[in-house]
Amino acid sequence: MKHKKIYFLAFASFLTLAISVGFTNCAPGGGADLPSEKKGVVRVEGLPPINYFREPIPDRFCGQEGYGYLLRSYIGPECGSCHSMTGGMFPPFGDKDLAKAYSYGKSLGKEKFLELSLDNRFCGPDCDLDIRGEIYQALNEWFDNTDSCN
Ligand code: HEC
Repeated sequence: MKHKKIYFLAFASFLTLAISVGFTNCAPGGGADLPSEKKGVVRVEGLPPINYFREPIPDRFCGQEGYGYLLRSYIGPECGSCHSMTGGMFPPFGDKDLAKAYSYGKSLGKEKFLELSLDNRFCGPDCDLDIRGEIYQALNEWFDNTDSCN
């Protein structure tokens, strides 16, 4: 019976340790978890150029500013010839005027848009994104934060 008691004590102290370590990590400014909590776009090398941003990548993709990055790097050049006020295809989410493009961009359905960015019969295989690429990851993030950066 003595053994059981020792096992129990060992287990109990392990639990205490585990719990206190757990709490330390959750404490504000505890630090240990911070780097892995940082979300954002991950660069995978070797994909077709269409998948990479043409400008420095911001920490977050949200609101109108986030849409601006996507408009300049992908949506404008690849979809804007048709989806703009001059291109005539509705909706004009790829217009040169960011405020206008953004207001239409916000009303797009996430699933449909992401699907069309991977495979689009109108702009051909050259504009199809890779699911591992920066632009696709950024689009995916932006559609969860279309209205603001809060
Ligand atoms: C050559 C012109 C052209 C280009 C370039 C183009 N589209 Fe379109 N798009 C169309 C036309 C035409 C329609 C409407 C007909 C249809 O839905 O089949 C359309 C419809 C859409 C719709 C609405 C679909 C729906 O079900 O309501 C979305 C979203 C869309 N396109 C996304 C894109 C994206 C994203 C790109 C760029 C990666 C793009 N399009 C590039 C011509 C184009």
